[in-house]
Amino acid sequence: MQNPEEKKKFVREKFASISLRYDLLNSVLSFQCDRYWRWVTTRELKEFPEGAVLDLCAGTLPLSLELARQAPSRKVVAIDFCEEMLSTGVKKLPWDDRRYRIFPACGDGEKIPALDNSFWGCTVAFGVRNLSQTEKGLKEMWRVLKPGGKLLILEFSRPKTPVIKELYNFYLNAVLPKIAGLVSGDKEAYEYLASSIAGFYEPEELLQMMREAGFAKTYCRPLTFGVVTVYVGVK
Ligand SMILES: C[S@@+](CC[C@H](N)C(=O)[O-])C[C@H]1O[C@@H](n2cnc3c(N)ncnc32)[C@H](O)[C@@H]1O
Repeated sequence: MQNPEEKKKFVREKFASISLRYDLLNSVLSFQCDRYWRWVTTRELKEFPEGAVLDLCAGTLPLSLELARQAPSRKVVAIDFCEEMLSTGVKKLPWDDRRYRIFPACGDGEKIPALDNSFWGCTVAFGVRNLSQTEKGLKEMWRVLKPGGKLLILEFSRPKTPVIKELYNFYLNAVLPKIAGLVSGDKEAYEYLASSIAGFYEPEELLQMMREAGFAKTYCRPLTFGVVTVYVGVK
């Protein structure tokens, strides 16, 4: 799956096929840590409580909801190229003010349908790993941020501590695809999850790519034994 267009098609189809079960599986398979991870990521934007934030690869909108929850005046533009993921999220939006502050739109993260210098923040939770051309996506994130705006990436990483590493690899490769396959009906989607985590950049490599895309003040913070990492950069 080297061709970028082929990867896009594959990723879009996989997310479409699991969209209805995505939130449930996310919560069960991460032992509900996903909520904590999104909370930590979103808090990094507390200096921008107003104005518009872009949630890229927004999926079923869990991070968009947290962004809107943490700042009552914030507006969130939620972009994803999988219509099924977005529409599943829209159907589940709560009947409170957040519903009117989240603006979902279909679009490609490697060609973001937004003007230059539009947002104070750009978040990407578990999406960068799925892009077919990471550098292109990072440059687009830089383009649509206002000068001084912040990029936050939440992404899976690989624990380094020996025992944790073995347990995690066993869970990711042997346990997770079986459970997820049964619940979602698409085992291949979760085999892809395991292989995409195994093949993803080391944190230092991704930080370097962020710098090459133009970001300054870059740093990262591992969470939960390094199962995920939050990356921060400023335009
Ligand atoms: C693992 S889900 C993450 C959803 C959500 N951000 C979350 O926190 O759960 C990854 C999402 O990225 C989207 N995606 C992958 N590549 C994309 C691209 N090039 N442009 C837009 N969305 C993309 C997929 O459709 C999918 O909904």
